[in-house]
Amino acid sequence: MRFLDRTAIVTGGGGHGLGGAIARSLAKEGARVAVADRDRDMAESVAAAITATGGEALPITVDVRRPDQVQAMAETASKAFGEPDILINNAFTSCPDSILEADLDDWTRDVDVILKGAFLCARAVLPAMLERGRGVIVSLSTVNAHTYVGASAYSAAKAGLESLSRSIAVEYARHGIRSNVVIPGTFATEAWELRRQRHPDILERLAHWYPTGRIGEVEEIAAAVLFLASDEASWITGATLPVDGGLLAGNPWFGRDAHPDEQPPHGGGAQ
Ligand SMILES: NC(=O)c1ccc[n+]([C@@H]2O[C@H](COP(=O)([O-])OP(=O)(O)OC[C@H]3O[C@@H](n4cnc5c(N)ncnc54)[C@H](O)[C@@H]3O)[C@@H](O)[C@H]2O)c1
Repeated sequence: MRFLDRTAIVTGGGGHGLGGAIARSLAKEGARVAVADRDRDMAESVAAAITATGGEALPITVDVRRPDQVQAMAETASKAFGEPDILINNAFTSCPDSILEADLDDWTRDVDVILKGAFLCARAVLPAMLERGRGVIVSLSTVNAHTYVGASAYSAAKAGLESLSRSIAVEYARHGIRSNVVIPGTFATEAWELRRQRHPDILERLAHWYPTGRIGEVEEIAAAVLFLASDEASWITGATLPVDGGLLAGNPWFGRDAHPDEQPPHGGGAQ
């Protein structure tokens, strides 16, 4: 029970993918969790699942792009559970269109939800964290922030989110605040499920690119997020932790083509 007596806010916590899994995992380890999501039904469903298993959770409807709503979210969570100890920046949207095809409103929405949303959430929880001299922020980035995978707005916003996380880490380190990032690779969440309907083998094809030969399990992200949010990570701040099966480290296919006369590397069979 690493989070007994701690209050956590998970934005996008109503998501059936990583957000909901992180909210459930925090609650399982004793945290009182504000499940903050733009979609009220989804927030309620995750909060209900947590309370049904003996945990403490409160659904909060919020659009993280709206300063008034974000402030109200922090106040509602504080009133119900006590001042937030943990903020998880998880909410996101992503338009897949190429740079010339992207609609300006969609592009702006991705940046606003991911980057402005995280900024507003940090500003809403930091004053109380500073007052008590402790607090943790963990933000969900993506491998797209480090290597091209399309979705230019989403990728640029996540790269900005990583920078914002470092700014928070450095500006408030002396006040007991930590701020870190996890960089997920591919997980079989709802967004991928939709693509799978059109391309049934999409996840198998993606798995080939991973040095580990598979995509991730949602519990593997939750484990990393909880570690960074816990006191076990007490001297880790300003860090970015890939949870990506080695994807950002490289891939055996490039190595194989660069050294055609040598034995294929271990695990580097035919793609
Ligand atoms: N799923 C993956 O393979 C993958 C890969 C890399 C990174 N990530 C990152 O992990 C995180 C979770 O991804 P996921 O696919 O599991 O999604 P998820 O299941 O956690 O759902 C995201 C939630 O964000 C909410 N949301 C969207 N806009 C919002 C807004 N304006 N205000 C409040 N809530 C809003 C949605 O309603 C949704 O419930 C995201 O930050 C994503 O970028 C996911």
